[in-house]
Amino acid sequence: MAPRSVNQARNTQARPRGSRKTRPEPSRRASHPRARRRLIFALDVASLKEVNHYVALLADEVGLFKVGKQLFVHAGPEVIRRIHAKGGAVFLDLKFHDIPQTVASASVEAARLGVKMFTLHASGGTDMLQQAHRAVRSVCRAEQLTRPTLLAVTVLTSLGRDDLKQVGVRAGPAAQVVRLARLAQQVGIDGLVASPQEIAAIRRACGDKLTLVIPGVRPQGSTADDQKRILTPHQAMRAGANYLVVGRPIRDATDPRQAARDIVTDMAWGLSG
Ligand code: C5P
Repeated sequence: MAPRSVNQARNTQARPRGSRKTRPEPSRRASHPRARRRLIFALDVASLKEVNHYVALLADEVGLFKVGKQLFVHAGPEVIRRIHAKGGAVFLDLKFHDIPQTVASASVEAARLGVKMFTLHASGGTDMLQQAHRAVRSVCRAEQLTRPTLLAVTVLTSLGRDDLKQVGVRAGPAAQVVRLARLAQQVGIDGLVASPQEIAAIRRACGDKLTLVIPGVRPQGSTADDQKRILTPHQAMRAGANYLVVGRPIRDATDPRQAARDIVTDMAWGLSG
């Protein structure tokens, strides 16, 4: 099946109220610092050589680099040090889920690596979330580290109603997302990784304080790849996202720098309201 383009996908999206109708001209230079800080490039690559390439290319164009399981298992903490050495900040997306003591210890090590954000599963439960949060706070105080932002993952977008039923969860994905979002917020977790279609429900249930980090974003006119329900950068920022995670549309572009700048311009438009 041919990949859907964002133009097709966005026909189903209502224009947010109060947004400007005209898309701003793409910028040839890095600009919009407020929007740029909120763009996270997913470093979905398999070697340190590629890390060096993309970080050198994009350090001035994006706010953070996302390091996931593949790259971290391949290269270990060295990858974080490389990114920091080139002036980049890191979002460590390892989605911790284990007994509370183990997750707390892993979270402390993430804080010691100096990452700006990291993820853990909300479904690990209150004790796990709370102990991780407390351990990070206390190590950062004791060792004078900047405290990273703790982000909870609610329901993976790969799981549908039937998958949840199989593992004993009777609620549908949307209700379960809100339930876990509330639980994470109650124990002081700073934010969530959520899909674009969840932004509104989470904001309704939890207010504006949680930091929402949103993957599944596609610039207008690009292919959707395997992302199903997508928003453009402008739409996602208007809907209430704080950070966007974008990988392939930047990584696979002929000019990744310009692709990142175009996304930042679109985000800035969304932020300007
Ligand atoms: O290449 P693309 O822009 O689709 O990359 C998005 C990044 O966000 C990938 O690293 C992917 O693993 C991650 N992600 C996602 N959808 C989710 C959760 C995470 O695409 N629901």
